[in-house]
Amino acid sequence: MLDKVRVGFVGCGGIAGSHLTGLARMEDVELVAFCDISAEAAERRAAEYGGRAFTDPRAMLDAVQIDALFICLPPFAHGEAEIAAIEHRVPFLVEKPLGLDLDLMREIARRVEEADLLAGAGYMTRYRRSVQRARRILQQDPLIIGYGGWIGRPPDGSIPIHRWWVVKEKSGGQFHEQVTHTVDLVRYLAGEVEEVFAYGARGFNRSARAALPEYDIEDGVVVNMKLAEGAVVTLYAACAAKAGGGGVNLHLFAHEHSILFSGWEYTGRFLVAGEPEIIEIPGEKDIFTLEDRAFLNAVKTSDRALIRSTYADGVRTAAVTLAANQSLATGQPVRVAI
Ligand SMILES: NC(=O)c1ccc[n+]([C@@H]2O[C@H](COP(=O)([O-])OP(=O)(O)OC[C@H]3O[C@@H](n4cnc5c(N)ncnc54)[C@H](O)[C@@H]3O)[C@@H](O)[C@H]2O)c1
Repeated sequence: MLDKVRVGFVGCGGIAGSHLTGLARMEDVELVAFCDISAEAAERRAAEYGGRAFTDPRAMLDAVQIDALFICLPPFAHGEAEIAAIEHRVPFLVEKPLGLDLDLMREIARRVEEADLLAGAGYMTRYRRSVQRARRILQQDPLIIGYGGWIGRPPDGSIPIHRWWVVKEKSGGQFHEQVTHTVDLVRYLAGEVEEVFAYGARGFNRSARAALPEYDIEDGVVVNMKLAEGAVVTLYAACAAKAGGGGVNLHLFAHEHSILFSGWEYTGRFLVAGEPEIIEIPGEKDIFTLEDRAFLNAVKTSDRALIRSTYADGVRTAAVTLAANQSLATGQPVRVAI
């Protein structure tokens, strides 16, 4: 077993920072290399955490021995880093969503399997206690209906937002980029999504377009889903509610149980038929540390069962959100190609 895990990063932006805060406190982690197309971004992380800075993932993997790689790239930038990691046989964890090109993601998944490599997807919500309890409940008392999603303020300067986020061909839109977490949870808790039918609203987000002229994502989206096990779910995304009052949630209803998740931390409230007491499980604050600990323990012990979201599984979540995009583009229901 490895005593120290030598960790590298490709992509040194915002989410890399969320991982690094926890990793820097782990005694068995050494931060050895940082790669970003922006040399300045990579050098800044290297100056803060130690290690070497690179602008090319392959050059980094050629030069530095890395035991675990975090790939924290925007949706449009995937491919090169994952392939380089596979070729160097370095286990990796990719931030969600895993990309925009389903064929490329499937090719990466195929090569991961062929190389028999540990590869994870960054669906950290799966590590929450509330989510684990919901999973156990719904295995006994299956989901009938659910609804949820994210309703946020406009990306008009009032909230921090990346420029790539508002461009559909770079981010895939809010449903693919953000509500991917909710889609992934529905799959994790209630099984595969078979078919989706999406509607989008456009042209209302005046303040976003004024601040970022390249804004071309939907202002709001609703996606109806039919699950393989028979349940029906509606998920939604909006980034145009200037007055607030939206937020993140997921409400799930089975015959004997109602499960109400609220907030980004997915605090869960559990209602049981005939029982007056409502159980509440608050969401963990240090969720990236929990996710990263599981990944690093899997690297150290070679026990892959420790990670709750594999790369291949994350591809199936992307297949659902990209099917929703196809439905938005065609105005037709789309069967999800698993
Ligand atoms: N799990 C979560 O809750 C969560 C939260 C935030 C972001 N994310 C995800 O993380 C990903 C990255 O988001 P972010 O907020 O860090 O974005 P960001 O824009 O802050 O950082 C991305 C970094 O990648 C670099 N980059 C771009 N193309 C590159 C390439 N080809 N090679 C190397 N570096 C490249 C950019 O220069 C930038 O420094 C997104 O997919 C996002 O959805 C996940």
